[in-house]
Amino acid sequence: TKTPLRVAVTGAAGQISYSLLFRIASGAMFGPEQPVILQLLEIPNEKAMKALEGVAMELDDCAFPLLRGLVLSDDPRVAFKDANWSLLVGAKPRGPGMERADLLKDNGKIFTVQGQIIDEVAAEDARVAVVGNPANTNCMIAASKARRLTPDRFTAMVRLDQNRAQAQLAKKAGVALTEVQSIFIYGNHSPTMFPAFAQATIGGKAAREVIGDDAWLQGEFCETVGKRGAAIIAARGLSSAASAANALVDHVHDLMTPGAIHSVAVKGATHYGFDANVWAGVPVRTTTPGSYEIIEGYAMDDFAKSKIAATNKELTDERAMVAELLGT
Ligand code: NAI
Repeated sequence: TKTPLRVAVTGAAGQISYSLLFRIASGAMFGPEQPVILQLLEIPNEKAMKALEGVAMELDDCAFPLLRGLVLSDDPRVAFKDANWSLLVGAKPRGPGMERADLLKDNGKIFTVQGQIIDEVAAEDARVAVVGNPANTNCMIAASKARRLTPDRFTAMVRLDQNRAQAQLAKKAGVALTEVQSIFIYGNHSPTMFPAFAQATIGGKAAREVIGDDAWLQGEFCETVGKRGAAIIAARGLSSAASAANALVDHVHDLMTPGAIHSVAVKGATHYGFDANVWAGVPVRTTTPGSYEIIEGYAMDDFAKSKIAATNKELTDERAMVAELLGT
């Protein structure tokens, strides 16, 4: 029998975690043979810890055979101890009238602490996935605090954007979802990110040919994918949670599956024109469980290059705003 994986999840009493934890425990993330121990972190606040106890009660009540242990804590040193995967979901939401720079800094403080502690106490093979927004920049901040763990261990999630783009293309073409392949997300997890439709295929043919409407691809398609988060908030009154949790299941599952090709925000995507120090979405191929290489073969036309330049600028601007938080 396999040794259980230790999976730390922050923001464990929040919306996304309420969809996420049950799928990790059921085997959706690491497969039906892999037992897990969930190490759940919340803020040191009575209400949050009480809510977390409720979630733990429900996890118990699912009687998941793969769930071999639950740790509940408000102390990151406990939650990240020996963790094989740390899923950084918890973040401070943007309050009314709050500037983006303040959001970046407030969240940056959380990720400096968490990056440092993960580096100190997590497992030898530790991997980190960041979901809490601004995800790319939070990931960069956490990685900058690590001395033991190299930057490639830290990834940020753009998979929700990829899944959204795939669904939109399938809908437009009127085909089954699985017919749409090779749609990858470049850049920031924000409305500036670029779903590179020119690389996508539908039923094995170039998506542009099948759709036959470049104005739609460059306009409405990019906009719908980029602003989908806001559209969900407008409709539901709450930000996307089940789909974000589902995307994280895909993100980690595919990073554990050699050969999988998928969009991940990583450091070092200079081949596509990204700054060497930011975390940008690009297509990667998983090599061995938890490791990957950037797929560098895709050509970019002028439209794609201008979109990438814009999302890269946003990432470097965010980096400048949190400069004082970055480790050296
Ligand atoms: P939520 O507000 O329902 O839950 C967040 C939880 O994190 C709260 O329970 C809070 O107490 C906790 N938390 C805050 N600071 C913490 C800390 N330092 N340590 C541990 N826990 C902490 O939010 P929700 O809906 O679950 O979203 C979480 C984050 O994910 C948000 O930042 C959201 O913007 C982001 N998000 C990212 C997406 C992506 O595609 N990358 C998609 C959707 C949401």
